[in-house]
Amino acid sequence: MSLLKREAENILLNNRREGYTLPTNNKLYPAQWNWDSAYIALGYSYFNKEFAIVELEKLFEGQWSDGMVPHILFHQKDENYFPNHNTWQCGDKIPSSGITQPPIAASILKLMLDKTEFSSSEMERILNLIKKTKKYLEWFCKYRDPNDTGLVSILHPWESGTDNSPLWDFPLSKILIEENLAYKRRDLDVSSSDVRPLKRDYDCYITLLNQFRNQKYNPEQLYDISMFNVVDIGFNSLFLKACKDLVYIATKNNIDCTSIQKKITRTENKLISLYNQNDNSFYSYDVLNKQTLEIPSITNYFILFADIQNKEINNSIIQSLKKYNSNEKYFFSSIKPDSKYFEEIRYWRGPVWINCNWILYKGLLEKDPDFANKIKSHTLDLIHEKDFHEYYSCKSGTPYGANNFSWSAALYLDLINN
Ligand code: DGY
Repeated sequence: MSLLKREAENILLNNRREGYTLPTNNKLYPAQWNWDSAYIALGYSYFNKEFAIVELEKLFEGQWSDGMVPHILFHQKDENYFPNHNTWQCGDKIPSSGITQPPIAASILKLMLDKTEFSSSEMERILNLIKKTKKYLEWFCKYRDPNDTGLVSILHPWESGTDNSPLWDFPLSKILIEENLAYKRRDLDVSSSDVRPLKRDYDCYITLLNQFRNQKYNPEQLYDISMFNVVDIGFNSLFLKACKDLVYIATKNNIDCTSIQKKITRTENKLISLYNQNDNSFYSYDVLNKQTLEIPSITNYFILFADIQNKEINNSIIQSLKKYNSNEKYFFSSIKPDSKYFEEIRYWRGPVWINCNWILYKGLLEKDPDFANKIKSHTLDLIHEKDFHEYYSCKSGTPYGANNFSWSAALYLDLINN
């Protein structure tokens, strides 16, 4: 156990650059990613509080003046990644992408505050981070739910963090690919095409990106003109939890959070209305094409992390989760294996991801501690057996994608300590 603990710490330290940490050191992701960074900060908090705070400070250094925190910050202008700063052409203080990612940083801050003693000067810096997080969540309310329905939209599959999930197949099938679209992918230089998104996916990603850049990333316009507008259950669950956690830590520190507080009730009620009793499932919704997305994705269960105040639904969902991977040795697969959409090794279309297991573990800790602990020991066993990779087959446990993967290491450090 202690050898692996040291290995996890070393992965984070080796992947660390000037104050921020790469998702991996194999050149696949040579920048700072938003939700990766939040998980990574939690990992550091177990052995280097300063690095944990600096990681988040670096992330919020890239916050745009309207409040958005980009999904990638290009602290160094690495041309080996595509799409890099030259393609995005945006960023306030730091060159960045023009879209965001799940705002898990709020929940990470709460977890760090719950368990760690901070000095008064550290607390001052954390208060600053709380204020910036508040502005970030307000940005979602204003620009991603302009009609105040309670649910926020993602406007690009990359915003979900689950890039090529089958959840996006239908919405992406409606996109008219830009004529004469020309670009060169770089992910296939370092990763096998069997595990990465398809060309058609990338064509859509870049068509959307170009559309956003042409609009100069004006958030009001993007909501109206984006060819992709989806209310994702996974994203909204993480958003709702972020709002709850922010209100908790902000109130404790005398920071007013009335606007976010109001959003919580609305979001929770609206999310519950997406529960489909017949299937005992939550389904995402394609706002643009007015279509329910009935895809058996593990992210539909992130609702457990959101702590909705409905015991009956929570219990039914837990029973369903217990059957989700009943025939596979390793769990949880990103897509249910008996679904026609499942692909054993392709990125977000089937493999097991450590952050998904971690989100479900956290969501179940108080609702079903036995099940939560089963998820935890299973996840630790997977890492003991196969090491810290990006993702794994649910059938053989074979690792795929990048090795020395930072969030697998960071979340391992959290799991062994809780
Ligand atoms: C990638 O480059 O594959 C990233 O997931 C995009 O955010």
